[in-house]
Amino acid sequence: MKRFHKYRIDQATRDKYAETDLSPHDFICPYFIVEGEKIKKKIKNFDGVYHFSIDQALKDIPGLLKIGINKILLFGVIAEKQKDEVGSFAYYKDNLVSRAIKEIKKKFPKLTVISDICLCGYTSHGHCGMPFDSAQGTRLPWASSGVETLSRAGARSQGQGLIDNDSTLQLLAKMAVKHAQAGADIVAPSAMMDGQVAAIRKALDSQGFKKVKILAYSAKYASSFYGPFREAAKSSPSFGDRKTYQIDYRNAKQALKEIEADIKEGADMIMVKPAHTYLDIIAQAKQKYPNKILTAYHVSGEYMLIRAAAKQGRLDEKQAFQEVLTSIKRAGADWIISYYAKKLF
Ligand code: PBG
Repeated sequence: MKRFHKYRIDQATRDKYAETDLSPHDFICPYFIVEGEKIKKKIKNFDGVYHFSIDQALKDIPGLLKIGINKILLFGVIAEKQKDEVGSFAYYKDNLVSRAIKEIKKKFPKLTVISDICLCGYTSHGHCGMPFDSAQGTRLPWASSGVETLSRAGARSQGQGLIDNDSTLQLLAKMAVKHAQAGADIVAPSAMMDGQVAAIRKALDSQGFKKVKILAYSAKYASSFYGPFREAAKSSPSFGDRKTYQIDYRNAKQALKEIEADIKEGADMIMVKPAHTYLDIIAQAKQKYPNKILTAYHVSGEYMLIRAAAKQGRLDEKQAFQEVLTSIKRAGADWIISYYAKKLF
């Protein structure tokens, strides 16, 4: 008989033989930034997560640093009336996130500031890229000239779905450059447009931002676990869904190909998202690319599952988070984006 119990006799022994341990440095804490002052407002249906005005985020960050968390991820949240078809507020000169980055880096120069690069929170239609115009079968004004006109149905039949991938790239690149100018350490494209990493790398390099790194949301699935986030970022699509650009959850090989493409395009770090429901993808990605920093996003719906169950007294909240987040690290994640990070330590 092989005796395993000897490794488990008490807490100290279990700690001694533990293969995986969570450390504050593993974590990235998301912030939802809004315009205004003195705002720290609870987000509906997203327990324990807030909208912060820049001044309040500046007040909250020392709490993170104190426990050793040294990376944050910024999302901008704007008013409906500021949104337009091309997401102009994402990349105008003094856009909300650029101002947040500038002030945060000024006050906390050692903090790693990552900015999310996507248009869904800024567009009137709520998609991550520019949709083809449905009604007339013509392109909307953002389309570059000389490109073939496609109707929505035509686009779909050509396998392009609703989204005009290629004319979105320049807008994402513009947004990334603006954040780099403001002082972002890392930009994180999450729009799932083909070629977005290459377009952003090229734009950053040509504008003199060779040291700004790219954390690519490479394997991002079309998931039903993004619900609370979309409420927080006010970024639900007004028509259709994101299945024409995010990965079909029935696929694993495709996710690895997405990661491979992003690495070839110049991604410094890669991501699997969601995390809890995609541990197999995390494990395969780590095995295939052991030397790339692998990030996993424990997304809003996955977070709320535990919060909601705990609220009903069905499980112990902290222990459940510890177990799930440790599993994500054990599967192979180097960095974990988590709404619970601050409560863990
Ligand atoms: C934007 C984006 C989303 C998330 C992060 N960036 C939502 C989406 O694709 O609809 C989800 C994060 C979460 O649910 O916590 N593209």
